[in-house]
Amino acid sequence: MRADKYLAQAGLGTRSEIKKMIRAGRVTLDGAAVRDPGLRVPEGGDLRLDGNPVAYEAFVYYMMNKPAGIITATRDGREPTVLDLIEEPRRKDLFPVGRLDRDTEGLLLITNDGALGHRLLAPGRHVDKVYYARVRGEITQEHARLFAGGLKVDETLTAMPAELKILGLSRENGETVTEAEVTIREGKFHQVKRMFAAVGGEVLYLKRLSMGSLRLDPSLLPGEWRRLTQEELDGIIMGTGGQPS
Ligand code: URA
Repeated sequence: MRADKYLAQAGLGTRSEIKKMIRAGRVTLDGAAVRDPGLRVPEGGDLRLDGNPVAYEAFVYYMMNKPAGIITATRDGREPTVLDLIEEPRRKDLFPVGRLDRDTEGLLLITNDGALGHRLLAPGRHVDKVYYARVRGEITQEHARLFAGGLKVDETLTAMPAELKILGLSRENGETVTEAEVTIREGKFHQVKRMFAAVGGEVLYLKRLSMGSLRLDPSLLPGEWRRLTQEELDGIIMGTGGQPS
């Protein structure tokens, strides 16, 4: 890999900042100053910035609080995607693990670890996903029993048993609004919205709170992101049958 790319992927700056570091003689490879940003770093090469070894990261993991109004996709010619919110020197191989609708907020895992993404999304894995929802209409314990029994949503979907916790009811503009938390174990298209619609509710606001052991950091505002901690990463790796690093 080129020296400038290697340094960018280690999160040490943008390509132009890195070119400046190289021009200033701050980068060495096996003890010799690197002058050409395109110089190839061989496997096992000792690349250093200001004398400090540069750790190359094969995989990166971000937690994002997805804002409403942004699509969950890798690239879209016409409009920004969740990946455009990550301003670090951005790797080209990042992808969001699973999809949230344009108007849904909350926890999104973004990584370039294809094997982990695959395990988290595998249909047989049934990773718990918890959502907070505000729903137009009165949702009751009877609906919670229907959710728990495996709700028939429509001709194409009978949901797996889901846990529905009713948090409260309020009146807004003369209408009843229910606040609820729902845990689903699969991820079918518009699943939560369709489940509430099947019992006569309309989702007004939806936010994902967790996925397996990974919980949305409450200090992240919509649109903000951070790297996963080692503990969070080990938790999701172990939860999907992998070995922690
Ligand atoms: N269920 C939905 O209906 N929408 C989402 O974005 C996620 C789950």
